[in-house]
Amino acid sequence: MATTKRHDVKDLSLAPEGVRRIMWADRQMPVLTAIRERFEHEQPLEGRRISACLHVTTETANLMRTLKAGGADVVLCASNPLSTQDDVAAALVNDFDIPVFAIKGEDNDTYYSHIEAAVDHRPQLTMDDGADVISVLHSARREQLGDIIAGMEETTTGVIRLKAMEADGALAFPVIAVNEARTKHLFDNRYGTGQSTLDGIIRATNVLLAGKRFVVAGYGWVGRGVALRARGLGAHVIVTEVDPMRALEALMDGYEVMPMAEAAPIGDIFCTATGDKHVLAREHLAVMKDGSIVCNTGHFNVEIDIPALQELSVETREARNFVEEFKMPDGRRIFLLADGRLVNISAAEGHPAIVMDMSFANQALATEYAVQNASSLEAKVYPVPTEIDEEIARLKLETMGVAIDALSEEQARYLASWDEGT
Ligand SMILES: NC(=O)c1ccc[n+]([C@@H]2O[C@H](COP(=O)([O-])OP(=O)(O)OC[C@H]3O[C@@H](n4cnc5c(N)ncnc54)[C@H](O)[C@@H]3O)[C@@H](O)[C@H]2O)c1
Repeated sequence: MATTKRHDVKDLSLAPEGVRRIMWADRQMPVLTAIRERFEHEQPLEGRRISACLHVTTETANLMRTLKAGGADVVLCASNPLSTQDDVAAALVNDFDIPVFAIKGEDNDTYYSHIEAAVDHRPQLTMDDGADVISVLHSARREQLGDIIAGMEETTTGVIRLKAMEADGALAFPVIAVNEARTKHLFDNRYGTGQSTLDGIIRATNVLLAGKRFVVAGYGWVGRGVALRARGLGAHVIVTEVDPMRALEALMDGYEVMPMAEAAPIGDIFCTATGDKHVLAREHLAVMKDGSIVCNTGHFNVEIDIPALQELSVETREARNFVEEFKMPDGRRIFLLADGRLVNISAAEGHPAIVMDMSFANQALATEYAVQNASSLEAKVYPVPTEIDEEIARLKLETMGVAIDALSEEQARYLASWDEGT
């Protein structure tokens, strides 16, 4: 099946604003820029067809430009119906000649038809944020599986799904788990999501964080960042967890830790960051205080039981952009942000470019690595090679003007020995 439409974006006249913002982000992405310059010269992706399914943001635009500079024939669709920046989509089509299938606020059918359109490109490489393209290829498009050299996966939830596929023997081609690179999750998941999640909550509500009880569900990389930044704005942070190690870490980092059943009636703002389902369940929603704000920054919009919230309420209305009010029979109101989707990318702009520089440097270099090593990779989930990860950290420090010490020969010998005592 061939793609009949070259693109599907909201409005091409938005392109000039998209270009301005893409170039603004580009200034904060020096590592990716250096890769793009090398790619232009070396053409490591020459003639390779890539279907990317990522949040359509300014930073993603710069990744697409980099892949294209490397010789790839790339198309892009959205990895979330609410995260598309329409001006960026327009600019990619209009000014960079990259087909995009994405419209902010698209319904579910359009969302999936856009993924289909990206798969119609007959990719040899896939790039996912949540494994949607890989899912379609393994279900409705199995006849295309043989074309694929490898896939790249951006986020924790996608990697968990792909590892489950590998364990079941269902994965048909190699995938590189970009999320597992330290230059990705230590910075993007923690500092990027930490800052942009608070940005999304504040832009949507203009709430004052100081003095509020802010409940973070999940103390993984994302939860740690959200808790840190909420505390920085003066909130009293409560963490809920299911993992004793992570709960202990949260406690010793100075947060209050308790089950959600205890947090639900006392919290003011709730933010889920688990990658799990119904973390804010009916019984929690039923006992929340009047005015409670609930939102999610985990990958899928299943962390809050929205159907239960709808059933519990007698009336709903849009209170502000990205804020839906649910009125309970006793008059209490609960405010749901961004339909329970990633609040940082729906109600704000997602991670700052300086962080995405490292995540997308990993994407670009992992793609090059997959092409170069295609013959030796099996249908497994692979980490990003350590050399790539460390090179990105080195380059990032260099572009930030930060120098570090190097081991002397004596120190290197000492650290590698077992016979030199105190
Ligand atoms: N918003 C963004 O831009 C963004 C960025 C990166 C990752 N993500 C997504 O955020 C989610 C979390 O990612 P991460 O890297 O922090 O993962 P992680 O695995 O490091 O952390 C998840 C934590 O949630 C805990 N958890 C699971 N079920 C729970 C429950 N019922 N109650 C309380 N805690 C529970 C786990 O024990 C774990 O500590 C994933 O879905 C990931 O894809 C979003």
